[in-house]
Amino acid sequence: MKKIIMISMALGLMSNQAQAESTDFEAGKALFQQNCFMCHNAELEPAQAPPMFVVQMKYKMATADKTEFVKKITSFATNPTVEKAILKEPVKVLGVMPNMGFEESDVRKIAAYIHDETFSPPCNHWKHAADRFKAEGKMKLYQKHQKKYDAMCSTSVDKPKVKHAGMRNTSITAEEGSLKAIMQQLGMDYAAVDEAILKEDLDAVAVAAHGIAFHDEPSLGTKMKLMGSLRSEMKGFKAKDEKVHHLALDIEKAAKANDMKTVIAKQSQMLSACMACHTSFRSRVISILH
Ligand code: HEC
Ligand code: HEC
Repeated sequence: MKKIIMISMALGLMSNQAQAESTDFEAGKALFQQNCFMCHNAELEPAQAPPMFVVQMKYKMATADKTEFVKKITSFATNPTVEKAILKEPVKVLGVMPNMGFEESDVRKIAAYIHDETFSPPCNHWKHAADRFKAEGKMKLYQKHQKKYDAMCSTSVDKPKVKHAGMRNTSITAEEGSLKAIMQQLGMDYAAVDEAILKEDLDAVAVAAHGIAFHDEPSLGTKMKLMGSLRSEMKGFKAKDEKVHHLALDIEKAAKANDMKTVIAKQSQMLSACMACHTSFRSRVISILH
């Protein structure tokens, strides 16, 4: 098979554009390794610069398309300033990136490569950072890095299992771990809260609300796909998920305090919060993922 591809490439059977794109990618990668990797190597301990997985994610979320992405990275790397920097924590810990006098034409190629590359999640980097912040007693930063590690690096066996009120497996028709399956579980947990309210069973309310607040995360591949398409709107998508998370926590707390009035008020706000995300994102996300 490999031979056939090699032969077809030699015969010029690959389209000119595909050929140009793969050459640009390889050139950008080589330039990246020569100029940037000495600091942006996620395996270095202590870290000398933020991992490219993180840089790519933050810049994709701050730009609408590849052209803007390349422009923004190039502007920063050829003349780094605090004002341009969007990674606030690395700037605080390491100081702003030094001006290395890079050629703009080189950085443009590197930036295009950074946009298209699939970087692995920097698991060792997050683990080291979590351990270090814990030892230093900086618990907020510790939790932030540990959460990322748990979400993207630990195997599902290590993950705490969320207790759900809705029956698992019976009505979930979507592929396990998909966003759709997570949503089907949310639908069941939401219905379970309603039913428990009507039965005035506040313990059951607390369990179902907990299941909503700590719903499973979609796979890394799904997240990257969403991020790659939603780009700067990913922040809004995440904010809508956070809103539901906080309302579910409020419901759990009120249920544990036997405060039915608050439970009912928050449950109705939560339905609005679920629907707000569906109105803005559902059909688009379906077209991205299906
Ligand atoms: C001498 C070490 C070093 C080298 C070499 C280096 N960087 Fe950095 N870079 C850093 C540090 C430290 C930060 C974190 C502080 C910051 O964000 O400014 C950083 C941050 C960044 C950021 C995020 C800036 C932001 O918005 O906060 C980008 C983009 C970046 N580097 C691109 C590059 C590219 C492209 C190259 C190669 C052409 C490169 N860097 C080479 C040290 C380096
Ligand atoms: C951050 C955005 C967001 C929030 C918040 C959200 N949803 Fe969804 N929901 C979606 C998306 C996107 C889909 C489409 C998923 C798909 O088909 O892949 C969906 C689909 C669904 C479905 C249909 C699943 C199916 O079988 O097609 C149900 C049920 C659902 N959500 C329930 C809920 C409930 C209940 C809440 C609140 C507790 C909620 N959702 C909050 C984004 C969201």
